[in-house]
Amino acid sequence: MRSSIVVVGSSNTDMIIQLDRIPRPGETILGGEFSTAAGGKGANQAVGAARAGGHVTFVARVGRDMFGDQAVAGFQRDGIGVDHVFRDKAAPSGVALIFVAKDGENSIAVAGGANAKLAPADVKKASKSIRSATVLVTQLETPLETVEAAAAIAAKAGVCVILNPAPARPLPDSLLKLVSILTPNETEAELLTGIKVTDEPAAAKAADKLRSRGAQTVILTLGPRGAFIADKTGKQLVPGFKVKAVDTTAAGDIFNGALAVALAEGKPLPCAVRFANAAAALSVTKLGAQPSAPIRKEIEKFLKTNP
Ligand code: RIB
Repeated sequence: MRSSIVVVGSSNTDMIIQLDRIPRPGETILGGEFSTAAGGKGANQAVGAARAGGHVTFVARVGRDMFGDQAVAGFQRDGIGVDHVFRDKAAPSGVALIFVAKDGENSIAVAGGANAKLAPADVKKASKSIRSATVLVTQLETPLETVEAAAAIAAKAGVCVILNPAPARPLPDSLLKLVSILTPNETEAELLTGIKVTDEPAAAKAADKLRSRGAQTVILTLGPRGAFIADKTGKQLVPGFKVKAVDTTAAGDIFNGALAVALAEGKPLPCAVRFANAAAALSVTKLGAQPSAPIRKEIEKFLKTNP
């Protein structure tokens, strides 16, 4: 029986400074509070899915260092399968430096380390898990050839492939053709299509362009406005939820993790997107990437109290 989720992607330790505003190039700002948190887009998606109720296996590469130890211990606490979290002999674990401004906006720089070493051969070692999964989730913080190798194994086995094209970079049609659901935000959609997503008609145009290049379904995430779905049956906006944003870091990752869970459970796409919108909204109310990932009960309570 297929009911599991495999996430192929990155793992980082986030070094966070909270500030009144993001510093400009060449500027020094004093007075921010410092903290660390588990992060990395892939790991955030895996943790987001596990806490939302998914049975998750993570395929990743971390260093043989303290950050790698802490990351793996964290995945295990969340009940995530770590048989395919490889420990790189030479490269250090990934690290991200994050500024979080008072309004919740952020600015992130990543030193990929071992993430850059995640290879198609690693993914092949996990091919049995990928083939027997319901949903594969992946993003772009690991090499493109690795992402494509994972998507190819999944697509060939009829597994739903969610590609979150973050951080944004140009993508070949050969990869898009393997994608069941592409989940760009406005910036990523603009980079991929050249269309500035300022309103719904622009979102529709960008989604059409991405679908014409091979992605079966496009879900364009629009922050607090919600998510715009375009698939073979039509187009619709699933409205988001208004919350007080403390830190928007990883909101997209949590959206993707929760979306995978809802789809693996067989929820219809608009319901799955509403569930994912709720998880993402809850995540922005807390500081940090993985510390902000809500558990299933919180998501369900939030959905009930925000009809
Ligand atoms: O999407 C947020 C994530 O981006 C952070 O956790 C950071 O590690 C970077 O990968």
